[in-house]
Amino acid sequence: MIEHGATLRKIAENLNAKLDGDAETIVTDITHDSRQAGKGALFVAVRGLTIDGHRFVTDVMRRGASGIISELDAPENFKGAWLKVADARIALSQAAAIINGNPSHDLKLVGITGTNGKTTTTYLVFALAEANGEKGAMLTTVEYRIGDKSEPAVRTTPEASDTNRFLRQAVEENCQMAVMETSSQAIDLRRCDWLKFRVAVFTNLTRDHLDYHLTMENYYDAKKQLFDGRLGEKPFSSIINIDDDWGAKLANELKTDNQRVVTFAQNNAADLTAENIEVSLIKGTSFLLKTPNGEIVITSPLVGKPHVYNMLAATATALELGYDLDKIGAGLKTCVGAPGRFERVPHDGDFAVVVDYAHSDDALLNTLKTARDLTSGKTITVFGCGGDRDKTKRAPMGEVAGLYSDLVIITSDNPRTENPLKILAEIEIGLKQTNSQYQIISDRREAIHQAIAKAKQGDVVLIAGKGHETYQIVGGDKFHFDDREIAREALEKLKED
Ligand SMILES: Nc1ncnc2c1ncn2[C@@H]1O[C@H](COP(=O)(O)OP(=O)(O)OP(=O)(O)O)[C@@H](O)[C@H]1O
Ligand SMILES: [Mg+2]
Repeated sequence: MIEHGATLRKIAENLNAKLDGDAETIVTDITHDSRQAGKGALFVAVRGLTIDGHRFVTDVMRRGASGIISELDAPENFKGAWLKVADARIALSQAAAIINGNPSHDLKLVGITGTNGKTTTTYLVFALAEANGEKGAMLTTVEYRIGDKSEPAVRTTPEASDTNRFLRQAVEENCQMAVMETSSQAIDLRRCDWLKFRVAVFTNLTRDHLDYHLTMENYYDAKKQLFDGRLGEKPFSSIINIDDDWGAKLANELKTDNQRVVTFAQNNAADLTAENIEVSLIKGTSFLLKTPNGEIVITSPLVGKPHVYNMLAATATALELGYDLDKIGAGLKTCVGAPGRFERVPHDGDFAVVVDYAHSDDALLNTLKTARDLTSGKTITVFGCGGDRDKTKRAPMGEVAGLYSDLVIITSDNPRTENPLKILAEIEIGLKQTNSQYQIISDRREAIHQAIAKAKQGDVVLIAGKGHETYQIVGGDKFHFDDREIAREALEKLKED
């Protein structure tokens, strides 16, 4: 076990806080969620948008918390330790790092920011660590993972208290590296202060999340903090996409400041580039990767030029972490990116099988358009709608599937306590608005087998709705069920027949 916990004295000194209370009290945890402020925890009272944490200070102390961090003075008659700080959110991050023994100093931490591609690039970097024999940890939109142990993610970039606890766990379990999505909003909310990043990655910046940041300049500046030292220490190296105008600006600004910058691009001269890019829904993507360490031909199950950017970013990161170029090539060859997000099921046949988590009419439309753009053949779509959930999307999903497919097989997707056939009948109402052929096969395994058996050269089979989910809920029972496994099983069967 790593030593963890710290005295209020140590925390107050580091935070430049004014401490009222017993300086020798040992703190073992920290949180700004009053419900989680148990015995030995410091509670950070934050004035949120809707709730003021100060409402709970008496309550958490009664439950055994070891003290309060706040920007305000202690209320009169308050009993317990009180640390007054200039910025409660930064204090939360810094104290979380101290209490957990600064775990980001004990592994190579990679932070990935950008509007698009964070999750995919995070998975790629994690896979490249594994391909190079290192044990890694990752925090993503999809899951939090340490080696082969995984739990579903709560949010893309957790609070500093959770991140530091997670990283400490990763260190204890002998991880050499960790990689995390670092959203601009999380940076802005000071969740990433006092994390020591070895490598920081900038994927791109486009108009999104402006509801939060209001202007592109604000949005850019939020991201820039990951690179320029405003979070604490500057990263050892910064990996930047200079085909993106904001990326080019960032690279220039950091270079002017004498920071180590590694650039990548498809359309400009850069440290890492890709040539002879070939994209096929059936074969995946291949290209010639040029790096300062040499050239190598990459083949990847990922489909599309955006993913070539993600592979360039991941390779640049891997080289900065000291990994071997041939092993990087081997890692990219098998990594499918973010699980269940337009995930191709690789096989030797001449048609494509794609598993995607689209489970709304809007998402299904986007996924089907992507699939159609990339294929000359027919589109065969398998999907269903969950029971005991939003019923209004059933007919629209049926309609979208019908409009953009040549054959639709509607099937079960967690029917729960509803009658599966009733759900399918509601989807069918939308399907009937279109000219698409369709079949109703409520057994999802059978539906996937049928779809794959019908595929011909150049076709795409899209299995939508579950993505990376590994279960099916029928009635009150939850069974193991993985679309990718069933697809592989069907592909094997096809070979035997
Ligand atoms: N480098 C890229 N450039 C542009 N688009 C991309 C890139 N990488 C992935 N995409 C597309 O952006 C979408 C999101 O990809 P991904 O989940 O990897 O990104 P993200 O930054 O983690 O997004 P989120 O903010 O939703 O967590 C996908 O539809 C994907 O096809
Ligand atoms: Mg993400």
